[in-house]
Amino acid sequence: MRTLDEIETVGVVGAGTMGSGIAQVAATAGYDVVMRDVKSEFVQQGFDSIEDSLSRFVRKEQLTQEEADAARERITGTTDLDDLADADYVVEAAVEKLDVKRDIFADLDEAVPDDVVLATNTSTLSITTIASVTDRPELVVGLHFMNPAPVMKGLELVVGEKTADEVVDLSHALAEDMGKETWESDDKPGFVVNRILMPWLNEGVRAYDQGVASKEDIDTGMKLGTNVPMGPLELCDHIGLDIVLDASQTLHDELGDRYKPAYLLKRKVDAGDLGKKTGRGFYEYD
Ligand code: 3HC
Repeated sequence: MRTLDEIETVGVVGAGTMGSGIAQVAATAGYDVVMRDVKSEFVQQGFDSIEDSLSRFVRKEQLTQEEADAARERITGTTDLDDLADADYVVEAAVEKLDVKRDIFADLDEAVPDDVVLATNTSTLSITTIASVTDRPELVVGLHFMNPAPVMKGLELVVGEKTADEVVDLSHALAEDMGKETWESDDKPGFVVNRILMPWLNEGVRAYDQGVASKEDIDTGMKLGTNVPMGPLELCDHIGLDIVLDASQTLHDELGDRYKPAYLLKRKVDAGDLGKKTGRGFYEYD
């Protein structure tokens, strides 16, 4: 396994919201990054998100223009998984489907040198199951970034059945070097954050659907009442209703009825109202 000092290049699989955010975090911390997605238009969308996010940091004077430009310059885009062969640590952030992730990990196991850690940003799927398709399950770990990855300080480290202690230590150290604070979870459905967050979000949706209060009052109540930055309906729109539904469904399958997705959540996903990314979820956006 490579040491922290030997990590110069971070490979990122997926250039969507989470993949591009993770690429940005690594590049801002000074790592070279290879960001891969299946189509060049997806890679380009990833770069657009990174530029938008970096310019927000510059506007808020949290980065200088030079630092933002340097971070952008450190990122290379590709559609070829073999270009990750030069990576010293890889983070996968593709869609949250087990069969897709298993295929990617089988391909990564071929493409990437066998002393390189393969991390997954999965939010609810089993690290142990994903690792089982590789010949290096001890080098597979969960690195669960929070959305938006460039802004959120916390990072959940998930330890699979076979993950080696040195891989856990290295991943903590890398996360810290990227400016994150970590906590550890065992490889149980939803880990810490989503196991507790998903019922909270679904309960917010049910409360709204059952007429307990207006959506604004539910969000205001939870913000003022418990000092969280976003209420449940606002946070659903921020995360994406499809992502919340998928995560809730996985938890429901694994842990039973108390994780049943709210009916209104399913109805909105069916209608294509997925939150900020489609311009409409529980609220409307420009
Ligand atoms: N890069 C990317 N996005 C940024 C950003 C940056 N540099 N700066 C702000 N944002 C985003 C916000 O999401 C929001 O989007 P919008 O403008 O497009 O509507 C906007 O920019 C708000 O920015 P503001 O400057 O008004 O707000 P703040 O910067 O003060 O706070 C926040 C934004 C940190 C996102 C805060 O609202 C917050 O902490 N919200 C809760 C987020 C949260 O709980 N995330 C975790 C979700 S759970 C998860 O990710 C697990 C997964 O598996 C489901």
